[in-house]
Amino acid sequence: MPQERTYDLVLFGATGFTGSLTAEYLARHAPPGLRWALAGRNPNKLATVRTRLTAIDSTLAELPLLTADATAPASLRAVAERARVVASTVGPYIHHGEPLVAACAAAGTDYLDITGEPEFVDLMYVRHHETAVRTGARLVHTCGFDSIPYDLGVWFTLKHLPADAPISVDGFVRAGGRFSDGTYHSALTAFSRTDETSRAAAARRAVEPRPEGRRVRTVSGRISRSPELGMWAVPLPTIDPQVVRRSAAARPEYGPDFRYRHFAAVRRLPTLLAGAAGIAAVTGLVKLPPARRWLFGRLSPGQGPSPERRARSWFQLRFLAESGGQQVRTEVAGGDPGYDETAKMLAESALCLALDDLPPTTGQVTPVTAMGDALLDRLQRAGITFRVR
Ligand SMILES: NC(=O)c1ccc[n+]([C@@H]2O[C@H](COP(=O)([O-])OP(=O)(O)OC[C@H]3O[C@@H](n4cnc5c(N)ncnc54)[C@H](OP(=O)(O)O)[C@@H]3O)[C@@H](O)[C@H]2O)c1
Repeated sequence: MPQERTYDLVLFGATGFTGSLTAEYLARHAPPGLRWALAGRNPNKLATVRTRLTAIDSTLAELPLLTADATAPASLRAVAERARVVASTVGPYIHHGEPLVAACAAAGTDYLDITGEPEFVDLMYVRHHETAVRTGARLVHTCGFDSIPYDLGVWFTLKHLPADAPISVDGFVRAGGRFSDGTYHSALTAFSRTDETSRAAAARRAVEPRPEGRRVRTVSGRISRSPELGMWAVPLPTIDPQVVRRSAAARPEYGPDFRYRHFAAVRRLPTLLAGAAGIAAVTGLVKLPPARRWLFGRLSPGQGPSPERRARSWFQLRFLAESGGQQVRTEVAGGDPGYDETAKMLAESALCLALDDLPPTTGQVTPVTAMGDALLDRLQRAGITFRVR
């Protein structure tokens, strides 16, 4: 990693809802001496964010502000070439993300984001992984609630099981909270692009090597009543199981034969059916241009849940795992998943890449592959619970 760069860390998208929370987290928790900067397309909005940060730490009055626009690749190259690590909250990533990934891959600069969009992650692997391997850049997507608690939660669970026998892990998520308009925008975008998402996954499968001499699978479960949880378990086809599978493919700690299943845990069946019907209806509607215009027209980028609402939000993941006849149950839990905890996870991941002694990796890598125990340690110290139940 180049040491002669001007900045250790640049936060791109600092003016957005999640970006501002990430900037505030860094203002409170970045170690003295960290050379960091805010980047975004609007200098006036960046200056307003910086003014808010000086209320947290008055020494940030001179925090550098870099103007860069996702539609101007040269401006992104200038950021990537001056930084060791760039963290981006500029989404939907399928529309705005690629030029920065390309710039970081070419410049040998570490890149992180909080995307939950499988199409984007797969396309970035196909188009930029090889360049990043050559330059030494680490491209780490999904550093928010998608998918750090699942990825690190399984990693933590494995520490309590023998690794020389087949390992099976079931993950169950429950959460309470509201989404920002930026998240709705990215989710609607993903729902409108199911065909493109399948094509990107196929393009990746065609070029990505499989682990040699080991079996690694994600399996789609069935809707069933879980006696262990006392709740309904519903298969959840998000990006999270894909990230867990890629970590398992990359690291020998997942053993000779690893299987993961991913579920939402729901107390009442009607809630489950209403949720599934709602998602199916939106997925159908968003493909029709007039309905799509209406749905997107209702969103106000930059808006999200209030501090009071976030303070009442929470998440809890449970993992039931088995290996060699031994069972373990673990839990990962924390506060507002979408924003406060996502900002924490992104900021701690960025600090981890910038400052910690990590295993050597390059190219597109998962959070566990890039940061593993160092990030687990950081998040535990930052108040996210990882425990055996
Ligand atoms: N994985 C997770 O758990 C998780 C959690 C939260 C959010 N997210 C994702 O994070 C992303 C941001 O969400 P949010 O709620 O923070 O959205 P937001 O408030 O709308 O913020 C979007 C940011 O992108 C910037 N931006 C838009 N177009 C740009 C361009 N052409 N060049 C440079 N910057 C540009 C905006 O700048 P301006 O201020 O100048 O408009 C703003 O800073 C979304 O994709 C969302 O899905 C993921």
